[in-house]
Amino acid sequence: MRVLTGIQPSGDLHIGNYFGSIKQMVDAQKTSDTFAFIANYHAMSSGNGGEALAKLTMATATDFLSLGIDPEKSTFWVQSDVKEVLELYWVLSAFTPMGLLERAHSYKDKTAKGISANHSLFSYPVLMAADILLYSPDIIPVGKDQIQHVEIARDIAIKFNNEYGEIFKLPEFKVEESVATVPGIDGQKMSKSYKNTVNIFGEEKKQLKTIKKIVTEQVALEEPKEYENCNVYNMAKLFLEGENLVSLQNRYRAGGEGHGHFKVYLAEVMWEYFREYREKREYYISHQDEVRDILNAGAKKAKDIASPMIEKIRMATGIRY
Ligand code: ADP
Ligand code: TRP
Repeated sequence: MRVLTGIQPSGDLHIGNYFGSIKQMVDAQKTSDTFAFIANYHAMSSGNGGEALAKLTMATATDFLSLGIDPEKSTFWVQSDVKEVLELYWVLSAFTPMGLLERAHSYKDKTAKGISANHSLFSYPVLMAADILLYSPDIIPVGKDQIQHVEIARDIAIKFNNEYGEIFKLPEFKVEESVATVPGIDGQKMSKSYKNTVNIFGEEKKQLKTIKKIVTEQVALEEPKEYENCNVYNMAKLFLEGENLVSLQNRYRAGGEGHGHFKVYLAEVMWEYFREYREKREYYISHQDEVRDILNAGAKKAKDIASPMIEKIRMATGIRY
């Protein structure tokens, strides 16, 4: 079973990214052939570029390795190191009806907000389809917002296969329902673009300050509190299981503690949860050459799959003459 995902190097990673995508990838390493890449070409479609993009690419790679992507078990690379993806992007665009892209949320939502779209934002699902189809994965673990993109990849693959035979494997998306949408500090979906994130790595004090801003109901200290719809609880439950989770529920029910107490608890639990990852990250930050070596080796492994695939496509489409 092959599992593939990409993540844009567009800023600090937050716990939505972790539970919605990275952790699923790390867990998949135990049982599957995993492919993970830093989607640096994609980041250009939202205006990232220049030295900032180069730095973010290395920073994101460093964070991924720190969070448990194991280069021995996974193929881990930077998108732009395997140029075959750009050739496939072009080939696939000939199999992509305009209407399919016009219906894509990524484009529709931005233009609806009055943001003027460039072509890369519009055609972004085609590049994502190329990312996926080049490596014939079975499963794409994603957050809910990315489901449509995987469906578009399937649609494009079907059109291509209808014309040239069963070249592409049809990918399936997988959403971990319990963490499908991690809430942000304002209760909306956590997202860099909403500025409501709790970042994975950051100073302890700053993290507590962010967590203290989580929006909660106004209930008197001594009153029992509902945990089901509480943003603090919904974040804390991602880090807790079994008795620890039940004991937090009991604290809500018992009353006598305010949301401030639960926020401090959440900050502590989260700090502990990521401790080992922080230590690994310090190591990789001071060994950036090692990170580069890992990425180069990963790109070689990815190329070993991408090259024969693109050759097959050139043959089928008549580009090889
Ligand atoms: P952002 O919305 O902060 O820009 P990205 O779009 O870069 O995040 O998402 C990277 C990955 O993390 C994707 O697979 C996405 O589905 C997942 N993800 C992002 N935010 C969340 C969230 N709040 N809950 C669950 N998964 C998320
Ligand atoms: N579009 C994805 C995001 O913004 C990142 C991505 C690019 C991706 N290519 C991919 C995810 C291929 C899965 C598979 O999160």
